[in-house]
Amino acid sequence: MSQAQTRIGLIGYGQIGQAVHKMIDNNEDNGMEVVFVHDQFATAVQDLSAGMVLEDLGEFESRQPDLIVEMAHPDVTRKWGTTILEKTNYMFISVTALADAELEASIQETTRRAGTRAFVPHGGVVGMDALLENRDVWESVDIVMKKSPHNVDCAAAGIDPDDIKEETTLYDGPTRGICPLFPRNVNTHAAIAYAGIGFDRTHSLLQVSPEWSDAVVEIYAKGPGINLSVARNESITGVTGASTPASIYNTVQMIGSTGPGIHLR
Ligand SMILES: NC(=O)c1ccc[n+]([C@@H]2O[C@H](COP(=O)([O-])OP(=O)(O)OC[C@H]3O[C@@H](n4cnc5c(N)ncnc54)[C@H](O)[C@@H]3O)[C@@H](O)[C@H]2O)c1
Repeated sequence: MSQAQTRIGLIGYGQIGQAVHKMIDNNEDNGMEVVFVHDQFATAVQDLSAGMVLEDLGEFESRQPDLIVEMAHPDVTRKWGTTILEKTNYMFISVTALADAELEASIQETTRRAGTRAFVPHGGVVGMDALLENRDVWESVDIVMKKSPHNVDCAAAGIDPDDIKEETTLYDGPTRGICPLFPRNVNTHAAIAYAGIGFDRTHSLLQVSPEWSDAVVEIYAKGPGINLSVARNESITGVTGASTPASIYNTVQMIGSTGPGIHLR
C-alpha cells in the first residue's frame, strides 16, 4: 500500500535549511518532497532551480504544501505564522517566537479555527519527551547554556561580542526574558520552557567566554521523587550546534514521512 507524498515548503536556506533539504532529497523512501524553498536573500537560493524557489512567500498556496518548515528567524512566525496556519500545517524551529504570549495565543486560535497543526521540534533539546511527559510534576526547571560570545547574536541585547574578554553572565532570570534579547540563540531554552513548566517559571542562565569553543547545554528538572539532569557538549557553527540539522530533519520525518519501515517515536 503506497501513501501520497507529503509536500513540504522550506523557509530559510542557511545552515539548517540546506542540510534538511539534502536529507529529504537523499531519502527516496521517506514519502516527502520539497515543493518550494524561500529565503529573504536571492543569493541564498541561487544554486537551486528557478522552479524550486518561491520568491514571494505570499504565494505559498500555489505549491499546495502539506507542511511548511521555518528555518530562518522568529520574525517569520511573527509575520507569516497565522497566515500559513489558515491554510496548512506549520513547523517553526525558531521557537523563541513563542515567548510572545499574544503570538502563541493567535497560533493556538488559528489552528483551532482552520483545523491545521503547528509543530515545535525538540531541536537542540535532549530529553524534551521527559520534560513534557512530567510537566505537571516539575517544581523547578533550570537551563545553563555556555558558549563563545562569537557564537551568540548579541545585536538585540545591544552588546558587542568583541568587547567580552572574560567569562561573563549575559542573562540570569526567567526564560521569557531571555528570548527577545537573544532570539537566534536560545531556541533550546524556549523549547524546554514550552515543553515543561512555561516561560515564566523556567530559569535561564547564559554564560559566555572567549576561552570556550564548544556549546554546552545543561538541563536540571526537579520534582517530588524525580530528578532529571542532562548535559550536552558539542561543536557549534554560527548559532547552530552540530547535532541540530539532523534533529530537525528527524522531526520533519516524524511529521511528514509516509514511507514504509519501522518508525521510532
Ligand atoms: N530549535 C533549535 O534547537 C534551533 C537550533 C539552532 C538554530 N535554530 C534557529 O534556526 C534558524 C536557522 O538557523 P541557521 O543556523 O540555519 O541560520 P543561518 O543564518 O545559517 O540561515 C538562516 C537563513 O534564513 C534566512 N532568513 C532570515 N530571516 C529571514 C526572513 N525573515 N525571511 C526569509 N528568510 C530569512 C537567512 O537569509 C538565511 O539564509 C535560526 O533562527 C536559529 O536561531 C533553532
